[in-house]
Amino acid sequence: MNMADVMLIEDIRMHYQVRTGIFKTIPLRAVDGVTLAVPPGQTLGLVGESGSGKTSLGKLTLRLMEPTAGHLYFKGKEITHVPEGRLKWFRREAQMIFQDPFASLDPFMTVDQIVEEPLIIHRIQGRESKVHRALEAVRLTPVEEFINKYPHMLSGGQRQRVAIARTLILNPSYIVADEPVSMIDASSRVSVLQILSRLQKEYNLAFIYITHDVATARYFSDRLAVMYLGKIVEMAAADELISTPLHPYTAALIAAVPDPDPTNRLTKRRVIPGEPPSPINPPPGCRFHPRCPYAAKICRDEEPPLREVEPGRYAACHFSEKLQDDLLTLAHGHVDASSGRSAQPPTGASPKP
Ligand SMILES: Nc1ncnc2c1ncn2[C@@H]1O[C@H](COP(=O)(O)OP(=O)(O)OP(=O)(O)O)[C@@H](O)[C@H]1O
Ligand code: SF4
Ligand SMILES: [Mg+2]
Repeated sequence: MNMADVMLIEDIRMHYQVRTGIFKTIPLRAVDGVTLAVPPGQTLGLVGESGSGKTSLGKLTLRLMEPTAGHLYFKGKEITHVPEGRLKWFRREAQMIFQDPFASLDPFMTVDQIVEEPLIIHRIQGRESKVHRALEAVRLTPVEEFINKYPHMLSGGQRQRVAIARTLILNPSYIVADEPVSMIDASSRVSVLQILSRLQKEYNLAFIYITHDVATARYFSDRLAVMYLGKIVEMAAADELISTPLHPYTAALIAAVPDPDPTNRLTKRRVIPGEPPSPINPPPGCRFHPRCPYAAKICRDEEPPLREVEPGRYAACHFSEKLQDDLLTLAHGHVDASSGRSAQPPTGASPKP
């Protein structure tokens, strides 16, 4: 355990109880044994399809829910089951930025009141200058132009900046940003990401950045963790993970990213076949096996552990080493010369690793 990490997550689980009859409930394993660390000043990007458990994991780390099992440490202190009354210090240090800035802001409050509110709750003085500084930090300037406006008078990008100013005002050290740019207009996305990136450096913030979008995850993250049906299936430095994936699911996610080159707009994107199975009844063995083109008998029988395949690179696949060239081709449609690997044709639907 490295106590220097801002957030340390150990074998954490969130099993929701889902009602199936008047007296019967069954567990839905939204998060099913995740171990991760977020060092100070770094971003861990969490990517995966809808329903893979990203938001549940993010909320667990903020103790917005109490985990079913596992441990959470914030700056070396265990917070897993600490009662709310004794978490006030943690509430100042750990914040969340939500996907929908319209839903997360009170429509009847002005920008000034929205950004100031956490200071009132925590009884912090010098509020006016702090609000000014927070709005300047998110580039809502001149501040006088924005301070008396209501959320409906702002664009989606401006609203999200107000939400960011509100999270910053308590001077946190850890932020979970859950799809922070997916609901704002495309033209504002880059500037909001740039603001987050700059603030992170300025305040040495540790981030979990949650997204479906592998492309922005790469831009914003130091390390990436790929989540599938409640588990981490691959984790590595962002550039390495995207340039040479070691898990078939990661390769398929990368292949599904739209090509930004307009000349390739008619090229058909590869999509991941099938739907993710239900976390109520996950498949035995490797959870990805019903959708994996490389599945072999062992994949149906034995669950692959998340293991260190190369130094600093973790993957949960029985065949990560053998599949490296195939995965490169699957993800990028070619073999990268700089990787030193030779070009090979894709091996089709039923390779024999
Ligand atoms: N409060 C809840 N009660 C029961 N099931 C829940 C609850 N919240 C989430 N789930 C289920 O847990 C699983 C994981 O959901 P979660 O919202 O964490 O996924 P996600 O990766 O954030 O998805 P998305 O990308 O769509 O936001 C899903 O199957 C979801 O239906
Ligand atoms: S363990 Fe088998 S089924 Fe799972 S990702 Fe690897 S090859 Fe595919
Ligand atoms: Mg979510």
